[in-house]
Amino acid sequence: MKAYATYRIPGDGLARLGAIAELAVWERPDPVPRDALLAGVAGAAALVSTLNDRIDAEVLDAGSQLRVVSVMAVGHDSIDVAACTERGVVVTNTPGVLTDATADLAFALILAVARRLPEAADAARTGGWGRWQPTWMCGMDLAGATIGIVGYGAIGRAVGRRAAAFGMDIVHHSRHSGIPLDDLLAVSDVVTLHTPLTEQTRGLIGREQLRRMKPSAILVNTARGAVVDQVALAEALGDGTIAGAGIDVMVAEPIPTDDPLLALPNCLVTPHIGSATLRTRTEMADLAVQGAIDVLTGVRPAHIVNPAVLG
Ligand code: GLV
Repeated sequence: MKAYATYRIPGDGLARLGAIAELAVWERPDPVPRDALLAGVAGAAALVSTLNDRIDAEVLDAGSQLRVVSVMAVGHDSIDVAACTERGVVVTNTPGVLTDATADLAFALILAVARRLPEAADAARTGGWGRWQPTWMCGMDLAGATIGIVGYGAIGRAVGRRAAAFGMDIVHHSRHSGIPLDDLLAVSDVVTLHTPLTEQTRGLIGREQLRRMKPSAILVNTARGAVVDQVALAEALGDGTIAGAGIDVMVAEPIPTDDPLLALPNCLVTPHIGSATLRTRTEMADLAVQGAIDVLTGVRPAHIVNPAVLG
């Protein structure tokens, strides 16, 4: 039995997979090229992937023996789940273990943008720090401000717990609960996004939604880039429609260095580091590999994206 991994992920999971399958690994740090991926899955029963790898019908056809595709991520938009389900391929992901790390990063962005840390640090570094002035570099108080949490799964709720500790008022919007999105946008001082990327959430925050936000409000996105219309966001930040943004995820990653968002002083861009602590990434890697091992050994994995396949 063969298995393929698109990255030498941390932890000892791959060694465990290698003990039950003939494992090949893409050893370089850059994403596996398409042709190598197609060759790698040929004859493989399990594929361990990252969010860099587009796993679509072409890959599944090349890997016609595949029984499981696991992704080292909670978001599984890199995988054509319907195509997997059609072919009876189980999809597994890694929710839970990254909840706190991602909520921490969301809150780091909220604090940094609310208190203008990038601008302030730049000023200190480049000689812009003059005499102390009463209103210079003033930002937003979080205590008493309203945070609007869009998407209220594990990560959205974890952000809510942090916001409560900072004395914020909390509203939320999700498919099943909370207030209408338009109302949330109108009342929130901070809007933070925690939805998966689906056909329903693609472009959820566009020009019209940004216009509904307060001009003093900030937007934070640690979910997926395509949930926001990035062109509209750059415009809104540039013309004062909203006050600031903290963005960890982009439509195209890595962000091109000439992207207008990078030139805006009120926009803090981080390079998709929501879950980037070594402990969390190792737990994600272990869980991703375990999903593959479980399917290969006839155990029901803990996190199945398409449970219908297993009945
Ligand atoms: C990271 O973006 C993830 O979905 O885990």
